[in-house]
Amino acid sequence: MFWSNLPKPFFVLAPMDDVTDVVFRDVIENVAPPDVFFTEFTSTDGLASPGRERVMEKLARNPDSKYPLVAQLWGNDPELYRQAAADMAAMGFDGIDINMGCPERGIVARGCCGGLIGCYHEAEAIISATKEGAGKLPVSVKTRIGLGSIITEDWFNFLLKQNLAAITVHGRTVREMSKVPAHWDEIAKVVALRNQLAPQTLIIGNGDVADRAEGLARVEESGVDGIMIGRGIFHNIFAFDQQTGEHNQDEMITILLEHLDAFEQTWGDTKSFQILKKFFKLYINGWYGAAELRARLMDVNSPDEVRAILKGVSVH
Ligand SMILES: Cc1cc2nc3c(=O)[nH]c(=O)nc-3n(C[C@H](O)[C@H](O)[C@H](O)COP(=O)(O)O)c2cc1C
Repeated sequence: MFWSNLPKPFFVLAPMDDVTDVVFRDVIENVAPPDVFFTEFTSTDGLASPGRERVMEKLARNPDSKYPLVAQLWGNDPELYRQAAADMAAMGFDGIDINMGCPERGIVARGCCGGLIGCYHEAEAIISATKEGAGKLPVSVKTRIGLGSIITEDWFNFLLKQNLAAITVHGRTVREMSKVPAHWDEIAKVVALRNQLAPQTLIIGNGDVADRAEGLARVEESGVDGIMIGRGIFHNIFAFDQQTGEHNQDEMITILLEHLDAFEQTWGDTKSFQILKKFFKLYINGWYGAAELRARLMDVNSPDEVRAILKGVSVH
């Protein structure tokens, strides 16, 4: 099982819908990789529906990747988790993660993701069915510290008895969305509980970590085994780098052009070009004229238009 072979502490790129697809994961693997990647969250209902082929795009992977890849699932029907987990095992993923944290209102109202927090009977049935379907693949959970209020002790007392390979703790309640600073003191409480109840379960801390250096400080203070970084990657594509260094304009434009090529080759017309726009600020940032260039790029509607604009920007 890959979780037990990771360095300590280890780093994980957070699952992010419409962000961490196979193309973006490849970009990050090439520039400054974490130790583990997750897919975007993937609907177990969708996988069992006539629209399965479309949903499978979220699970596209590069067989040449050198890093473990965990498939993240969401839904509320244990039987569909069982089937999806068996599929993931057959497809060669390294692990399966159950999303028990997404705060999206419609999803929570259906008793999925963050809506499972505090629903012990339903959560137990889902974990158990996923394990059965997964066979030898390790099963983990990504969750928050409560739904409307903080219930760290009760919720993790329950989760830590489920014999999970790892638990990612996003240090906020569902209601808090991402609007308040993550409660790292609560994440430290989960580590203390884990030490008593389930020493074999790894704890991954998540919330507001900008980069590796900040992650290492969080490890010191909370005792977590690993750190997951999400939005930090939007401010610094080198967030997982062991060294800090300057990255000039030409290097960033080259990476953007590679990202663009890979997006086009992988998705063709199947994914909207508009999805790519959220990445522009990641590459075009922090130099004289960057804001103006970014504004021009926001107005375009195809990869070729981006290439044409960037051709006019000097690459030495
Ligand atoms: C655009 C976006 C999409 C996300 N999609 C997912 C998802 O598919 N699955 C999931 O478990 N969390 C998802 N999250 C939550 C992140 O994985 C992470 O828990 C959260 O952003 C807090 O970490 P951070 O402060 O490092 O960003 C998403 C977050 C963002 C910003």
